[in-house]
Amino acid sequence: MKLPDRHGQTASPDPRALPPPTAGEQEHSARLQQRLREEIAARSGSISFARFMELALYAPGLGYYAAGKQKFGASGDFITAPELGTLFARCLARPCRSILAQLGGGDILEAGAGSGALAADLLLELEALGRLPESYLILELSNELRDRQAGTLRRKVPHLLEHIHWLNALPVDFRGVILANELLDAMPAERFRVEANGVRQLHVAWENDRFVWREKPADEAIRRRIEPLALLPGYTSEINPQAEAWVRSVADVLEQGAMLLIDYGFPRAEFYHPQRSGGTLMCHYRHRAHDDPLTLVGLQDITAHVDFTAIAEAGTGTGLSLLGYTSQAAFLIGCGLEQLMSASDPEDVRAHLGLTQQVKKLTSPHEMGELYKVIALGRGIREPFPGFEFHDRRGRL
Ligand SMILES: C[S@@+](CC[C@H](N)C(=O)[O-])C[C@H]1O[C@@H](n2cnc3c(N)ncnc32)[C@H](O)[C@@H]1O
Repeated sequence: MKLPDRHGQTASPDPRALPPPTAGEQEHSARLQQRLREEIAARSGSISFARFMELALYAPGLGYYAAGKQKFGASGDFITAPELGTLFARCLARPCRSILAQLGGGDILEAGAGSGALAADLLLELEALGRLPESYLILELSNELRDRQAGTLRRKVPHLLEHIHWLNALPVDFRGVILANELLDAMPAERFRVEANGVRQLHVAWENDRFVWREKPADEAIRRRIEPLALLPGYTSEINPQAEAWVRSVADVLEQGAMLLIDYGFPRAEFYHPQRSGGTLMCHYRHRAHDDPLTLVGLQDITAHVDFTAIAEAGTGTGLSLLGYTSQAAFLIGCGLEQLMSASDPEDVRAHLGLTQQVKKLTSPHEMGELYKVIALGRGIREPFPGFEFHDRRGRL
């Protein structure tokens, strides 16, 4: 099956067609390979795919997100919505403003803040709207990205730095808005394959100088989740208990407010659709997408789509209300995208063209508009949740 890339376009499935890494990149990748091989040897010959993905992305100083590669933007490997321009952040400012107004104050916490672009543009828009949060908190795993975020924020919002703080762990008793764009897809997923004799968990081993897949009996917890789906033998896909656990831990600390999660994915019935029999794993390397996570370790992004039904269940199972679920296009339109667009001066051709291009990328069904979804979960928040009035698909989860 051909894979869609981050923006829904068809991907090149052959990793041999990828541009070759530089000598420095190869050296870096070899160090991470060594780290992975040591772990594989210490665990009797194989590690779960989730552990492989965790080290490939986040091993201190070596993983894709933990080391110095450019990653985001035209000179990196992929582009996310906040990197396209300010429009995405300006739209998100509307629901943030309403929730902060409803709470009479509160903070914003952004998890996985990438280059810091969303934080900077959101703060500028909230300032213009007269509703700055008391604090803008950033929870980021990667020290390298923390430094990059600090640089972006020093450059773009030097006068707001006193509002911004980095956290090492979730705060206790949080009131406000928790935001995460493309965080859940970057969390280590487990991979499984259904065989005639039951569900198998995919592990990674090292053989003949390369990483290879190994099948093991699935953990009890994975088996219990996958068996009722009655998938046919050969069906291979992912399940993401870490992403679900993250939502539960956020729910535990959310005293009042909402979490707004934006990512690519589907409701469970579509995620495990019979035709998606190869799963949703995708790798991004210099703006090419492919489906082999065992190559280019440390040099490429590895992601899995999000099962939004599982995310909704993780939140509601911990006492949160499901406040909305829809496509990114419908959500941004519900946040006033068209009004922001019509306020732009068409005489300023360059700025207007830039905005038109952002609208197209963010909302076109062939780009990010339909594949990307937005889910809101919260506690003590009135409905309707701003942004979902236009089209709410909660019933499909
Ligand atoms: C695909 S990037 C998206 C970055 C940014 N939100 C954007 O849209 O450009 C994923 C981000 O999540 C971070 N991340 C992954 N797991 C995390 C976790 N458990 N807690 C906090 N940040 C995490 C990564 O380091 C990275 O900044």
